[in-house]
Amino acid sequence: MSVADLPKIELHLHHEGAAPPAFIRQLAHEKRIDLSGLFKPDGRYDFRDFAHFLSVYEAACEVLKSPEDFRRLTLAILEESAANGVVYSETFLSPDFCGGGDLQAWCDYLAAIQDAAVEAERKFDITLRGVITCVRHFGPEKAKASARCAAETAGDWITGFGMGGNESVGAQGDFKWAFDCAREAGLRLTTHAGEFGGPESVRDAIRDLGVERVGHGVRAIEDPDLIREIVDRDVTLEVCPGSNVVLGLYPEFAAHPIARLREAGVKVTVSTDDPPFFHTTMRREYEMLAQAFGWGAEDFAALNDTALNAAFCDEETRARVKTRLETP
Ligand code: HPA
Ligand code: ZN
Repeated sequence: MSVADLPKIELHLHHEGAAPPAFIRQLAHEKRIDLSGLFKPDGRYDFRDFAHFLSVYEAACEVLKSPEDFRRLTLAILEESAANGVVYSETFLSPDFCGGGDLQAWCDYLAAIQDAAVEAERKFDITLRGVITCVRHFGPEKAKASARCAAETAGDWITGFGMGGNESVGAQGDFKWAFDCAREAGLRLTTHAGEFGGPESVRDAIRDLGVERVGHGVRAIEDPDLIREIVDRDVTLEVCPGSNVVLGLYPEFAAHPIARLREAGVKVTVSTDDPPFFHTTMRREYEMLAQAFGWGAEDFAALNDTALNAAFCDEETRARVKTRLETP
């Protein structure tokens, strides 16, 4: 059996960013919306760099305008993830793209997404949980609205709160109110840092927002003191190697710091981020890591174990997923 066949846990997946281009084109066709500029002639998403990626992403979101659209999207995503061996996944959901931050609208979108997750669990044997994310470049006021939606719908399905978006806009600390609100509602916390921001952005994320997981965080490798702090504070990194390579942080998998982070004692996990944008799948991430670092079944079992322990789900779900991992 190839390592790519192993069951997998994914903790860092942007819901809209997981939309297959053909799915977005189909919705555009049904709604008579012209999105032709977003795609390359071969049908893939077309973007030059991270800022352009974010604008193509948001333009694609223009066709996702109803709970029913999100129900269909969720089923499509989970079918694809399950086909790649994912047994448990946490997805980033943004009220900004689901009703614009209005609580009642958000509840309607969430009901449709959860409905699809129940159907997918039955059909494809994959478990999904939601992490609500605010969008950094939309600013702290929008983030507060997202945090209120998160606090109102926190529970055993919405289990966490986080932040994505453009890391070069504002500071982590600008979003303290939103993160405190989410924490008080019992939500677990993560934020994107150390992808385009340097090591100091990871330090800010841990100290100013008190997150227990960091999205990416890979540039922490540039600062040994920070590595010690990450290990001491038991922070887990949601590493997305293929995304980092496509966005030009590292020229190839072999140059990616994931192996060095792991050797330094940092808890690392593996995810795809926005798989069709970055031409990847969980299966491909495993294949590329095996090829670049010689990792075998034991290494991937250790990564999955780290991911299982860092998952934001309740203990009953964790135990169930553990059984799934042990019986491929
Ligand atoms: N990084 C940061 N923000 C995002 C991403 C991403 O990959 N996808 C959607 N928002
Ligand atoms: Zn991300």
